[in-house]
Amino acid sequence: MNAVLQYLQLLLLILFLHHASSHSIPIFNAIYSFGGAYEDTGNIAILAPTKPGYRLLLNPPYGETFFNRPTGRASDGRLVIDIIAGYLGLPFIPPSLAQDQDFSKGANFAVSGATTLNLTFFQQNNISNTLLLNTSLSIQIEWFENQKPSICNTRKFGDSDYLYMLLGGKTIDFVNSTVPLVVETIRSAAERLLTQGVMHLVVAGIIPNGCLPQILTYFASGNRSDYDSLGCLRVYNNIGMYHNALLRDEVKQLQVEYPQAKISFSQYYEPIIDFLKNSSQYGFASGTELRACCGTGEPFNFNSSAVCGQTGVPACPNFIYFYKLGWIALD
Ligand SMILES: *[C@@H]1O[C@H](CO)[C@@H](O)[C@H](O)[C@H]1NC(C)=O
Ligand SMILES: *[C@@H]1O[C@H](CO)[C@@H](O)[C@H](O)[C@H]1NC(C)=O
Ligand SMILES: *[C@@H]1O[C@H](CO)[C@@H](O)[C@H](O)[C@H]1NC(C)=O
Ligand SMILES: *[C@@H]1O[C@H](CO)[C@@H](O)[C@H](O)[C@H]1NC(C)=O
Ligand SMILES: *[C@@H]1O[C@H](CO)[C@@H](O)[C@H](O)[C@H]1NC(C)=O
Ligand SMILES: *[C@@H]1O[C@H](CO)[C@@H](O)[C@H](O)[C@H]1NC(C)=O
Ligand SMILES: *[C@@H]1O[C@H](CO)[C@@H](O)[C@H](O)[C@H]1NC(C)=O
Repeated sequence: MNAVLQYLQLLLLILFLHHASSHSIPIFNAIYSFGGAYEDTGNIAILAPTKPGYRLLLNPPYGETFFNRPTGRASDGRLVIDIIAGYLGLPFIPPSLAQDQDFSKGANFAVSGATTLNLTFFQQNNISNTLLLNTSLSIQIEWFENQKPSICNTRKFGDSDYLYMLLGGKTIDFVNSTVPLVVETIRSAAERLLTQGVMHLVVAGIIPNGCLPQILTYFASGNRSDYDSLGCLRVYNNIGMYHNALLRDEVKQLQVEYPQAKISFSQYYEPIIDFLKNSSQYGFASGTELRACCGTGEPFNFNSSAVCGQTGVPACPNFIYFYKLGWIALD
């Protein structure tokens, strides 16, 4: 099973890596990571271990295929950030809130469920969700600035913002109208880091939310034309494409304004669409692509009353590793 299809909270990612020297294989001496459930290597388990929704991350099947215990990761195995760290010859990045950890090779400030926009935005717009915490992008950067030992950095953020809004009953037009604000918030966070001397930055786009089991279940439509040829809900994917297009433009501008830094945009949207189109090549049985692996309920194996981590909720067998999807674009 995998984290993305199960526990989809956060969607904007920025990565910062510090270059120690310039060989053909880059050498980084540390990674600093920001974001949400896709990057969190354990902060949520320290910050809110008993909070409904999050405490389930401390139950099986979370952690069972790699670490052999729940670590707070929203996955049974490793996250993309763990794979990146391994590829660069670095240890797993410890959660920044952990005590007694060695942060000399980096720190991970990501928290599951974190948003790009601050908590005040959600409160002012009457958007409530038990998963909302005061852990937004600017808070994570403050943690980084307070803890800043010297080195480098990684981060991601974005679509939990839209998920909270949609699940909070906001209209598509409202959600779509917030896209420029979300993107601008990411841009200013990136600049805040670049002006502090970050030399390697990866900014990640968001996934096609309209293909998520949770969205497909909550916003099921009787109108066939609301779905695309892959079975995803069009309007939710359109918001993601709009976000990614604006964010790509911002990254291009940053590349011009900070020529001394290496700034990349990392795709999450296109590889998932490719996976849905070619699922058999990735080892998935036809017809299972849009289903959550861990869960209950038809037709998407998603039921908010019986979610992954609750007693008696089954998970499918293992079938894939994230890195096979080629999501990692380090250059
Ligand atoms: C929180 O977000 C609101 C709306 O985007 C903005 O006006 C405000 O300055 C932000 N507050 C902080 C502390 O970043
Ligand atoms: C979030 O936490 C920051 C301190 O880290 C605090 O200044 C701010 O008021 C908090 N926001 C809310 C809405 O509680
Ligand atoms: C939020 O709810 C309060 C109380 O119901 C209402 O007065 C206010 O207008 C609402 N604000 C927005 C932005 O919907
Ligand atoms: C179905 O959706 C299409 C496009 O969104 C719209 O033009 C059409 O009127 C809808 N049909 C019904 C029966 O609501
Ligand atoms: C979102 O807004 C953009 C810019 O106004 C527009 O081009 C796009 O069609 C909108 N998308 C949706 C899903 O409403
Ligand atoms: C996936 O399918 C598309 C269109 O069918 C094709 O262009 C693409 O090369 C395929 N990708 C892989 C990894 O096979
Ligand atoms: C969802 O799960 C709850 C609790 O197991 C169950 O009572 C309910 O019937 C399920 N709903 C659907 C639509 O399957």
